[in-house]
Amino acid sequence: MAYNGFGKSFVYLSMKIFHSSSELVAHVESVKKLGQSVGFVPTMGALHHGHLSLIESGIKENDITIASIFINPLQFNNENDFINYPQTPDRDSLMLQNAGCDLLYLPIKEELYPPGSIQIFDLHGLDVPMEGRHRPGHFQGMANVVFRFFQIIQPNRAYFGLKDYQQFIIIKNCIAPLFSKLEIKGVHTLRESSGLAMSSRNMRLTDSQKQQASCVYRLLKTQLNQLGEKKVGVLTKEIEAAFKAWEELRLEYVDFAEENTLAPWKEKGDPKQFRIFIAFYAGETRLIDNLGFGELSLY
Ligand code: PAJ
Repeated sequence: MAYNGFGKSFVYLSMKIFHSSSELVAHVESVKKLGQSVGFVPTMGALHHGHLSLIESGIKENDITIASIFINPLQFNNENDFINYPQTPDRDSLMLQNAGCDLLYLPIKEELYPPGSIQIFDLHGLDVPMEGRHRPGHFQGMANVVFRFFQIIQPNRAYFGLKDYQQFIIIKNCIAPLFSKLEIKGVHTLRESSGLAMSSRNMRLTDSQKQQASCVYRLLKTQLNQLGEKKVGVLTKEIEAAFKAWEELRLEYVDFAEENTLAPWKEKGDPKQFRIFIAFYAGETRLIDNLGFGELSLY
């Protein structure tokens, strides 16, 4: 039994922390021999409640839940973004432990990427639009690290946030099929009460940047609701006009794309199959968000 750091109560600290992949592999094998299922939640740390909602889903659906924290250099197309990525390791492990996570994997970079392990994956063109257009190489880097995690951990289920919808659909369609019996679960975006999607990057925002960034969710909701009624060009112009009024924000892109193929909306089909995707800067901080009709009633 140990002190949980919050000054009030004592909790059992039972979360294992592994650095070595061979130790982790041996542990997972022993768990699976007992017929137990393994849920996996990859993260880059600086955890918030959005991450914890993935852990909660993992705990509900599996016998043991493993989280990883690794700031993957391969998926950063901007050196400064990589260097400045927030790191809160002590707080993270405490949060995971208190959430009931069974095991935290903090990989050794050389074990994750032994010589010759980096591959080019066929991402079925899902890496081309939106984030792919603005962050060249990002999805190949992300696919590489997730592939290696799946290879090492061999989870039964892995959990990804719909907040990074393009990432989720790439993993589900292009990486998970390389592993038999692996189920990919998408978890709804957790938002602040203001509507702002929780993100590790939010901790870099000033109060006024945060306040303006929080307005974007309402805009997404309104514009998505009008898809099919108004032409996409009109909706886009309205979004651009809204951004002109927010002097702290700069719009990078807004797209309406089909939820499975990410094909752009062409003024035909069922709007309900489409999602709105946005990327913008609040000062120097780049934020992304997206929304589908299924989520309109959630907030
Ligand atoms: P990271 O940005 O740390 O996110 C880890 C997981 O948490 C991702 O699946 C992400 O979609 C999810 N997440 C983030 N914010 C969320 C929110 N507000 N609500 C629900 N889920 C949320 O995404 C990555 O790390 C990396 O690309 C990774 C998959 C770990 C590979 O390096």
